[in-house]
Amino acid sequence: FKSCVTALVATLSLLGLSAASAAEPIVIKFAHVVADDTPKGKGALLFKQLVEQRLAGQVKVEVYANSSLVGDADEMQALLDNRVQLLAPSLSKFEKYTRKLQVFDLPFLFDDEAAVKRFQSREKSRELLRSMAGSGIYGLAYWNNGLKQLSATQALRLPSDASGLAFRVQPSAVLEAQFAAVGAKSVRLPFADVFKSLQSGVVQGAENPWSNIASQNMHSVQPYITETNHGVLAYMLVTNAEFWRSIPFATRSELENIIVEVTAVVNEEAEALNRRDRERVLASGSSKLISLSPEQRQAWREKMQPVWQAYEADIGADVIRAALTVNR
Ligand code: LMR
Repeated sequence: FKSCVTALVATLSLLGLSAASAAEPIVIKFAHVVADDTPKGKGALLFKQLVEQRLAGQVKVEVYANSSLVGDADEMQALLDNRVQLLAPSLSKFEKYTRKLQVFDLPFLFDDEAAVKRFQSREKSRELLRSMAGSGIYGLAYWNNGLKQLSATQALRLPSDASGLAFRVQPSAVLEAQFAAVGAKSVRLPFADVFKSLQSGVVQGAENPWSNIASQNMHSVQPYITETNHGVLAYMLVTNAEFWRSIPFATRSELENIIVEVTAVVNEEAEALNRRDRERVLASGSSKLISLSPEQRQAWREKMQPVWQAYEADIGADVIRAALTVNR
């Protein structure tokens, strides 16, 4: 018997496997920067739950929320080094790898969330999932959060009200240009630093969907929130291409089926979560809601829209054209 075991171990090691590693599950570390009770946070937990039901013993998922493992500053490098295997950064955070995704940052481009979803199902968007292949980044899906609102220490009704204020931005040239267009400054800051930067006054304003405002308690330090719905916050679920290819085919297919299922749930529930959080923020009484008249909203649009043209060459006229066809 002993010689049989020895022979088996020798054969396994010839195949590059050890008896232990043959039985060990693949570990997927899924890191993100937001709270669990947000569209992305819930999506990550649902992914973990379904993987553990359907691929028990084969794949193990560890979810790290709130920048607890890696954050905006180092997560992409961690993915490229295969220290984490799944991320879902906002589409505004891929500037180093592609400019095309900044189409999603263009202010007032999409009329509503339904238009964003329509664009994401079109061929041009599907192509963008592959736009970072050259860097070893593989896009698996689009996950949506919601439309962004402007919060500030003072009431923003007209674009001129933002003049001179500093807004926190994600690392996207388009977002910087959007604020410059209304005479405001912008400061690139990791998501984990937003609350304290608003609290300490490093910046006076920010742009976020309701779910991020509520879950980070930003309303407690932003007395005014203007419901502009001026832009989109959406994510790309990304993995390390080499890692993904290394997963045995049947397991990878099951993971991809699970991702399709989770994506549908995230994108179906995001709007309701944002509506719930809007109510929570308003019920807290700490911020005053400013609703814009159609004329006031049009004034913001007119100031910000020249950004489309300014970034057309970076993003690609074809991409912008494709996005424009989805409004109804
Ligand atoms: C931000 O940095 O504001 C967002 O991208 C955070 C997030 O992941 O929702």
